[in-house]
Amino acid sequence: MLEFAIRLGKKAGDYLQENLTSAVEVEFKGPRDLVTGIDRGSQALIVEEIERSFPDHAILAEEGLRKETGSSFTWIVDPLDGTVNYVHRIPFFCVSLALYKDGLPYIGVCYNPVSRELFHAQAGSGAYLNNGRITVSPNARLIDALVVTGFPYAHDTIDDILAKFGRVIRETRAVRRFGSAALDLCHVAKGSFDAFWEMGLKPWDMAAGVVVLLEAGGKVSSQDGSPFDLFSGDILASNARVHDELVGLM
Ligand code: IPD
Ligand code: CA
Ligand code: CA
Repeated sequence: MLEFAIRLGKKAGDYLQENLTSAVEVEFKGPRDLVTGIDRGSQALIVEEIERSFPDHAILAEEGLRKETGSSFTWIVDPLDGTVNYVHRIPFFCVSLALYKDGLPYIGVCYNPVSRELFHAQAGSGAYLNNGRITVSPNARLIDALVVTGFPYAHDTIDDILAKFGRVIRETRAVRRFGSAALDLCHVAKGSFDAFWEMGLKPWDMAAGVVVLLEAGGKVSSQDGSPFDLFSGDILASNARVHDELVGLM
């Protein structure tokens, strides 16, 4: 299943890359929430392959697919994480494929076809970037921490989010906003960022990146420090060492 997920992540990523230069037609799910035919094409390709190889597995995919089968295996798919970047031709987006077993993280694959960075992990087997093992950063000091975040498309709680942003930027080295939650998590896993937080995410934004992060030695929770819930929308992910201080700031 891991080999299948890696092959499929690459195939869908190559599809994104091949279509990157074509004029992408944009539709709107909300004033800022974009979707393109490429998001749908990538999902169709992924779902078709999963259904062919694992017809009894459940699937949850961003562009309107919830397939319940009673299987203990569920694929959680973001066919293009970073659609706004993609539409603006900023080379920071990925395919995010996760497999959860009995509701628990099992396999995660995130592939950025432009940088050709493929992150993968399987529960209990470590996290990898291409063929090399990755681990979170050793940094334990908030003032030395490079932190990444994102902002939801809906702005109903934007004042709270900006207040939090203000607190974090005052206490850390710097804060970045790159536009792909899945890759943000993977870059915490490889030790480039020390932490990531965001509100209002969906399970497909986080599912694969969380597997990679946990296998790289990272920690994930809700922003108040309570146990992480893939369906709650809020996440604080870190190298574990700066986690408690960040919970305090959140
Ligand atoms: C989005 C990206 C972005 C995050 C948004 C997500 P999409 O996913 O992960 O970084 O800030 O909250 O919705 O729409 O590009 O799949
Ligand atoms: Ca997404
Ligand atoms: Ca998406």
